[in-house]
Amino acid sequence: MKIYKTKDYKEMSRKAANILSAQVILKPDCVLGLATGSTPIGTYDQLVEWYKKGDVDFSEVRTVNLDEYRGLTRDNDQSYYYFMHEHLFDRVNIKQENTNVPDGTESDADKECERYEKLIGSMGGVDIQLLGLGHNGHIGFNEPDSIFAKATHCVNLTESTIEANKRFFASADDVPRQAYTMGIGTIMKAKKILLIVNGEAKADIVSKAFFGPVTPEVPASILQLHSDVVIVADEAALSKIPE
Ligand code: F6R
Repeated sequence: MKIYKTKDYKEMSRKAANILSAQVILKPDCVLGLATGSTPIGTYDQLVEWYKKGDVDFSEVRTVNLDEYRGLTRDNDQSYYYFMHEHLFDRVNIKQENTNVPDGTESDADKECERYEKLIGSMGGVDIQLLGLGHNGHIGFNEPDSIFAKATHCVNLTESTIEANKRFFASADDVPRQAYTMGIGTIMKAKKILLIVNGEAKADIVSKAFFGPVTPEVPASILQLHSDVVIVADEAALSKIPE
């Protein structure tokens, strides 16, 4: 596990965008695993800036997103489909048919999760998976549990996640209660993992997840067992790690 410490969010975003664009340059038709949430917004902005300068070309890139709220339509501005189009897909030369987000409108959860898992396999797996980190240690929407969920599945969001995400909705009642997410097994199959995290509010969970025991109670802790993980974190997020 390699940890890059940056002075702030801007530098974290630039470093993460650097790593992602290096991947695209090395393998133009690579599969990028992408995340939503507030953390990657700066990374996507930086990628868009470099695309506009002609430094990075997305024409052959393929993507798979980690997760999607169950029940939200694509035109709902809180859906992760909408988020990805707003922050990245509509701003670069990626082919829309090469982008994939779980279909939140498919009510048959088993069918959708199976389709998504197979799709990732048929693309040859994920070359680099971008991850954020939830306050409770979740990655994707893999919430603390007594076991590590393997494949793409439907989850019930925890109160802590509903609370954290309500800032994007009119009220907590509007936050969907379920989501489709890649499983821990799906994430662990990615060839490389890039986790980004910033801010003092995540300092405790960073320390627990990457310096504590590997346990499904802290889903991100499993990343300690992946052979190629890069964490890019600002000083504040790393302020509680052991010496
Ligand atoms: C989003 C996702 C989540 C977020 C996490 C952190 O696709 O998978 O695991 O990465 O909830 O969210 P932010 O970045 O908003 O703190």
